[in-house]
Amino acid sequence: MAYRTIEVTPIGGTLGAEVAGIDLARPLGNEQIAEIHQAFLENQVLVFHGQDLTIEQNKDFARRFGPLVPYPFVKGLDDHPEVFEIRKEPDEEKNFGGAWHTDMSFEERPPVGTMLYARETPSRGGDTLIANLYRAYETLSDPMKRVVEGLTGVYSGDLKGRRGGRKALMDSTRFQAANVERAGEMEAEHPLVRTHPETGRKALYVSGSHLYRIAGMTDAESAALVGFLKDHAATPDFTCRVSYRPGTLVVWDNRCTQHRALNDYPGERRVMHRLTIGGGDRPH
Ligand SMILES: [Fe+2]
Repeated sequence: MAYRTIEVTPIGGTLGAEVAGIDLARPLGNEQIAEIHQAFLENQVLVFHGQDLTIEQNKDFARRFGPLVPYPFVKGLDDHPEVFEIRKEPDEEKNFGGAWHTDMSFEERPPVGTMLYARETPSRGGDTLIANLYRAYETLSDPMKRVVEGLTGVYSGDLKGRRGGRKALMDSTRFQAANVERAGEMEAEHPLVRTHPETGRKALYVSGSHLYRIAGMTDAESAALVGFLKDHAATPDFTCRVSYRPGTLVVWDNRCTQHRALNDYPGERRVMHRLTIGGGDRPH
């Protein structure tokens, strides 16, 4: 659609757009807010470069999308528990968010969206890949659509596909971890095909790190189908790529995307502020 108060330019073939002509540090008008929301629903991922925001301004903008919620596995900033720092130092090797996933899909009501605000970026690399889960559904054959439509996935906070689970990930970073011992209890069942509550479109709700089995299936059936669905949902044709420089802000819709942080900047520092936007529906 045409926008009057913002400039919206696609960054990928099927999802993602850069939004220009707006300073998020200034008060936003109702029409700007409505157009940003419309662009968010149409593009699934919005990127705003060159923003200069305090933490309060960052939170105020994030709240336009919904209430902020803490992330369970990392302690937030002292005065801003809803904000946590994703920091990778030059001598660290493992990165956070380095496998495909959609945020907190192990919750009964997963978050609407996630916002990252780049504070310090490497000289090159450190991009985020984001995959379009509408396309992942739409490109299945009709027989496979009929198979997955009736299925329920089981999503865990414990990263069961990773050796050592959640604990190994948190131990490999310098984050102030929280609730790691409870990761195995954080589990939810959701339909594998969910309908977006605002667009009405169907998405294949695959969260690479969290989806670990399909309810009611044998282990062999489940492993084969989960393996296929994870490969399919990570097809490069469904992705866009967000590149950061200091002051880049990105917000994505967790109800119809999954993402992966690239770890291709050895020897350099990357610091992002992450805000999680709650108020999501129970997937249906
Ligand atoms: Fe994530």
